[in-house]
Amino acid sequence: MPVALMTPPDVLIVGGGMIVHDQILPSLYHMQRQGQVAEIAVCASRHQTVRALADAEGLRRAFPGQQFDMYPESDAAGQQPELFRQRIADLPPRNLVVVAVPDQLHYEVVMEALGRDQHVLCVKPLVLKHSQAVRIAAEARRRQLLVAIEYHKRFDDRSLMARRRYREGSFGEFRLGTACLLEKWYYRHSNFQNWMTAEHSDAFTYIGCHYVDLVHFITGLLPVSVSVYGQLDRFPNGNQGYLWTDARVIWNNGACLNVQNALGFPDVAPGTNTQGLTMYCQGEADGALLAHSDQYRGLKYSYTAKPDGPGATIYAEPSPDYFQYVDLGGPGLVPAGYGYRSIEHIVTAAARVNAGDVNAGDAAQVLDEIDAAGILATPANSAYNEQVIEAARESIRNGGIEVRLVP
Ligand SMILES: NC(=O)c1ccc[n+]([C@@H]2O[C@H](COP(=O)([O-])OP(=O)(O)OC[C@H]3O[C@@H](n4cnc5c(N)ncnc54)[C@H](O)[C@@H]3O)[C@@H](O)[C@H]2O)c1
Repeated sequence: MPVALMTPPDVLIVGGGMIVHDQILPSLYHMQRQGQVAEIAVCASRHQTVRALADAEGLRRAFPGQQFDMYPESDAAGQQPELFRQRIADLPPRNLVVVAVPDQLHYEVVMEALGRDQHVLCVKPLVLKHSQAVRIAAEARRRQLLVAIEYHKRFDDRSLMARRRYREGSFGEFRLGTACLLEKWYYRHSNFQNWMTAEHSDAFTYIGCHYVDLVHFITGLLPVSVSVYGQLDRFPNGNQGYLWTDARVIWNNGACLNVQNALGFPDVAPGTNTQGLTMYCQGEADGALLAHSDQYRGLKYSYTAKPDGPGATIYAEPSPDYFQYVDLGGPGLVPAGYGYRSIEHIVTAAARVNAGDVNAGDAAQVLDEIDAAGILATPANSAYNEQVIEAARESIRNGGIEVRLVP
């Protein structure tokens, strides 16, 4: 359906941290600039958070003259962790709530949004328990609302190419795989130390879920058991976290994927992290191979001076593919990459559901199509991710035992 026929939604972002600054807000600003998003508001628990976001130099340069409504509006009331409820209630129904708070708060915010008849874009992982994903799927369907989980690696063209070729049979059958995603050491100093703690999360739950999701996205296979070995380490504030993890995921054809994750990639190393996926597959009379270097994308930059910012290096290997700003003649800069495309796809899908609504009853059909196509992750078509996470948490707490997923 052409975008022009759809009413642009108002968007309320709950949370104002790293992912909002780096990807979500600039993507929405760009859509607003193109008339595909109406008003944007951001609600954090402290005014200071939204103020810092509004003042962020990079965003101001890229989107001159654009603003969002800030909540809390001032410092006066201090910390307001429940304010998002009021802001969601004040949004007219069937607009869009973006959930970008720490993992363990997703469920509450998603359910609050659905209870007020809002479409939802939730950062990964949707929730930490499979039963919660099932409840979200049921509530969303009852109200004919879209809930989309923002697994942006799905919108990397290399993932889409791999999916198409795998499903055409070009790789035969997946047998053994290895994936890694290690974030830089300095992440330990960020707000993560307040919530990515051993009781709530671990390196696999936080970042490994991307590659579990991607293997399903490419192959259509489903995970059947998980074991995660984690090493307890300390954040700078003394909180304990499983900051180094090694996971083994067995799939329903017997294939095995190994995933290593950490907040431990050296700050002085080039690239914002290290990550990639290799899948060894079996054809009729030969092996087959799919290998993605997801960090090194062929660019080598050596600057005259080290740029500002944590993790910046004088020799860098930037990725042009996730999220970059390009100058297309202004005003401002234009976001490019799969980080942008992922947000755009979800916002457009929510608008499609609303357009379906106008033709009484078609919203359900649009939602069925989205679930069945499997390009967007929804609670109905990707709850295997929650099964894996729930099993992974049990495994890591028990020294890495194998935990079978409940079918
Ligand atoms: N690659 C990815 O897909 C990716 C990358 C980074 C983060 N994430 C996910 O995004 C979420 C947030 O991560 P982040 O990196 O932005 O973390 P962050 O710690 O930088 O930000 C968390 C934000 O949540 C806000 N918040 C906490 N409680 C709140 C409340 N009650 N009401 C309103 N706001 C509240 C905080 O103010 C903060 O702004 C996490 O679920 C994380 O797993 C996904």
